This record gives sequence, structure tokens and C-alpha cells, in this order.
Amino acid sequence: MTERLKIEHLYKVFAARPERALDMLRCGATKADVLRDTGHVVGLDDVSLSVPAGAMYMIMGLSGSGKSTLARCVNRLNEPSAGRILLDDTDLCALAEPALRDVRRKRISMVFQHFALLPNRPVIENVEFGLKLRGVPAAARRQRAGQVLEVVGLARWADKLPHELSGGMRQRVGLARALATDADILIMDEAFSALDPLIRAEMQDELLRLQRTLNKTILFITHDFQEALKLGTRIAIMSEGRLVREGTPQSIVTEPGSDYVAAFTRDVDRARLFNAGASMTSLAPLVQRDGWTVLAGGEPGPAFVVDADARVLGLVGPAQIDALRDGLALPPLDAAFACVPAATRLVDAAAHFGTARAVGVIDEVGRLVGRLEAGRVLAHIGAGGANGAKHV
Ligand SMILES: Nc1ncnc2c1ncn2[C@@H]1O[C@H](COP(=O)(O)OP(=O)(O)OP(=O)(O)O)[C@@H](O)[C@H]1O
Ligand SMILES: [Mg+2]
Repeated sequence: MTERLKIEHLYKVFAARPERALDMLRCGATKADVLRDTGHVVGLDDVSLSVPAGAMYMIMGLSGSGKSTLARCVNRLNEPSAGRILLDDTDLCALAEPALRDVRRKRISMVFQHFALLPNRPVIENVEFGLKLRGVPAAARRQRAGQVLEVVGLARWADKLPHELSGGMRQRVGLARALATDADILIMDEAFSALDPLIRAEMQDELLRLQRTLNKTILFITHDFQEALKLGTRIAIMSEGRLVREGTPQSIVTEPGSDYVAAFTRDVDRARLFNAGASMTSLAPLVQRDGWTVLAGGEPGPAFVVDADARVLGLVGPAQIDALRDGLALPPLDAAFACVPAATRLVDAAAHFGTARAVGVIDEVGRLVGRLEAGRVLAHIGAGGANGAKHV
């Protein structure tokens, strides 16, 4: 996958002369050490990460861990103290003011928690705002803003003033403004945090839906781990200005790697987070003949018989497998099996355990790629991650 945004050894010290603090950090000093010895606040301490094109990349961490500082460094609302920020191959840190302004207008859009809408301008003009800054002619920007309002479900509100909208709707206008610019990078800093839970869940669904067609590269900042899990393709977790863990949502839950990260994962509903593909047992051929193969793996019990295209024909029991091994013909097959696509959430896949003698996992074209075993699924859902992290 192509990398859209790459951050390399980024430091931010809030000081006019950060050199001494940087030297200390590079020698292993912490944010607290630097504050004590120099009086300077460290925002970012050697952060490196890569955001693939089209990713929904989550930045997570407690208050004060440096999430907003990182977001603001990306378009240099905060001036980085050291390091590089590569947008495709351009180092944003090296850009002079005119080129930087161009990047801010055309490549990167931001959505904040409390979006600053122009109070005396109707919704449509608020959405057009970014396009106006870009110098898009009036007719073209009105048309574009209209389209985007349609997308976020606010077309009928185009002529209303911001105060006539609810908080959730205003946030939607903020999102529409960011989307209207066509920037390929969207930075959303706690964009949904001020919304009440129901509206917030709706906005999350909306964003997921939009992302399927827009395919932007989104840097999404949140202190809510559930939100990160729901939206994220990758999650970076920050603490004290440092990036302490980075990976897919599933890998972070199974291997938090530290107590700090494990604390976020404690209340995670694993049955909803993991899918059949992540929890399946792989299969190996036991008996193979012209036109069919017996595939087995994991627990003893019935095994799958598949055709030459790896599509499931049925099940055979252990005694029948022995007979097949001895060269007997294929018996009538047991049809009491179920198959689920690899993307099925465990919570849904597990429902088959009640009725099926075996649950297979299939790929997009219906080939058997593994099976689910009740014991292993339960372990996956219930057990804690590695590294001694405890989960309730
Ligand atoms: N303009 C500033 N001047 C001095 N220190 C700052 C400035 N902005 C942020 N900081 C400090 O940088 C650190 C990181 O702050 P930041 O706002 O990035 O945290 P955050 O993770 O976004 O927190 P929150 O979840 O509360 O939004 C904090 O210690 C903060 O005090
Ligand atoms: Mg913040």
C-alpha cells in the first residue's frame, strides 16, 4: 500500500529555543525531566509513523498525551521543533509560507471538536468557505457545497443559520466543509467528542459510509478507545508525547504490550471486534482423491469434504475418515455444517455453534479457508491479551 503521510522522528517542544530540551529527549529524558530542568513543555517526543493512503488512522491517548499537537504539526499550525513530515514525497516542515498555504488549502482539511462556523452566514456559505479560500468561482463552489450537503443529509438546511441547527448538525456542517475542499487528507481532532452518544454513533456510521466512497486518508484523533476500534484501520497510542503502540485494532487488543495500553482495552467487546478469519483454525488435507479432499484441523470430530474448487460438499465423521484412508468410496455426506465469510463478526458466527456440527470459514468466492472451533473462539473472546495484561 502506498504511504500517503509519513512522520519521521518528530519533536515538538513549546519553547523559543528548544535545543537543550531536544538534546535531553534524544538522550532518553522524559517529558517530566525536561519540564523540571528547562521549564519547557514537551508536546511530541520522537514520534514516527506511516499513514497508508485511504487509511482511517486513529491517534489515541489520554488528555495531554500530544494528540492535538501531532495533528497541528501536520499542517504546521504548531511548528515542529525537529523531524520530518512527508506528504507523499514533500517534506512539509521544509515548505516556505506560500507553498505551505497551498498545501493547507488544497491537500489537508481539518475538523475540530468545536467547529468555528461563521454565525451570520447560512449553512451553504459555511460549507463553501474552504473553496472560497481556494479561489473557486462562485457558481462552482455553490454547486459543490450543495452536493456535499446532500451527502451529509443537510440539503434542506442549506439556507438556515448555524444557531438554528443542533450541535450534531453543526458538526455535520463542519464535516461537509472539510469534505467540500476535496483535500485528500482529513484531520479530525475530537470531531465527534462533543456530541451526545446517539448522535455520535450516527456520525461515526456516517463517516464509515462516506469513507467507503471518498477513500480519503483520515487522521482521526480521539481519546475514546471504542471509537478508535470502530473507525480505525490502524491505531497509534500516545503517552507523554511519545508513540507507545501502533497497529491494527485487533493486534492492539490481543497484544497491548504495556499496562497503559491494556487499560484502554479492558472493556472491549471482543466478540464484536474479532471476525471469523482472525479466530479460525487452519485446515490441512487428510485424504485426497480425484475431485474431493478431506480437510481437517484442530479439534477431533467431523471433517470437511471439499470439491476441487475448495467448496464444501459436506462432513464426514472420524470413523468414515479412517475408511476413506483405507481406500473406500466417499459415503453420503453429513449436511449439518454452516459456513460463514471470513469477515463475519464472532458474535454472529458463534450463533451457528448451536445447530451446526462444524462451522467453516469461506473466502469471498466461497472457498473453505478454515474452521471455527468453539473452544478457540471462546478463548479469543474471553481471554486477556499477551504480556500479562488482565481483562475483565
Ligand atoms: N500552545 C501550547 N503551549 C504550551 N504547551 C502546550 C501548547 N499546546 C499544547 N501544549 C502542551 O502539550 C502537551 C500535549 O497537549 P495536546 O493538546 O497535544 O494534548 P491532547 O492529547 O490533544 O489532549 P486532549 O485529549 O486534552 O485534547 C500538553 O502537556 C500541553 O500542556
Ligand atoms: Mg487535543
